[in-house]
Amino acid sequence: MAGYVDMHSHVVFGVDDGAESLAHAVELVTAARDAGTRLLVATPHVVPPYLDWNASAQRLDRIRRRFALLRDAAPAGIELRLGYEVTARPARLRADDDPARFRIEGTELVLLDGPQAVPWHGDATMERLIRRIRAEGLTPILAHPERRACWRGVPPDPGFAERMKAAGALLQVDATGLTGRDGPGVDVEARRLLQEGLIDLLGSDGHGRVSEVRVDLARAMAAEVVGEAAADRLVDGSAIGLRARP
Ligand SMILES: [Fe+2]
Repeated sequence: MAGYVDMHSHVVFGVDDGAESLAHAVELVTAARDAGTRLLVATPHVVPPYLDWNASAQRLDRIRRRFALLRDAAPAGIELRLGYEVTARPARLRADDDPARFRIEGTELVLLDGPQAVPWHGDATMERLIRRIRAEGLTPILAHPERRACWRGVPPDPGFAERMKAAGALLQVDATGLTGRDGPGVDVEARRLLQEGLIDLLGSDGHGRVSEVRVDLARAMAAEVVGEAAADRLVDGSAIGLRARP
């Protein structure tokens, strides 16, 4: 196929737990290109009030400036676009909080942070945020729904992914969900969701030190579950109307 589209990565440097420096970010982008990615969306975390990963105008401006430096320094053969990974919070539901400012550049798509390994801030508002974003005429993509399967000590929620999809989200499985790095329960759930046809997209969710910016790894593992042609459709951008330039 022509080239992979990876719409989830943490390559903007020094703004979250992803790339640590411009040189590190260039190294990650180069590795992604060498593995076949042709369109990479950088999606820094927006998680108030956690750390300083907030949505203030000052921080979003810093993200845009660092992304511009990275785009200038990136190697040929890979297009970079800026988006965000937005964690559900009560603040995100306020009438004056415009989700359009978190769109992936040139699209009507908004990437939402899905479940973490354990219950997390904002879980209770995730479904409402999906509906809110839909109501604004935008398309939410929910990252790593498979992680909900590994929660311990809380009631299981086997219909979680199905409910988020019914609320209007596209669903995106992480590479680390399929490699087993996120745990055996997550691995099993990721494959179940693929088998049942609930997954629209694969993403690397690459951070650098802990996870590679390699959506090709996810594609290869998904192909074992759904076959080569279906796996290609999970990484060619067709589900979200994005195409890598030839
Ligand atoms: Fe992420």
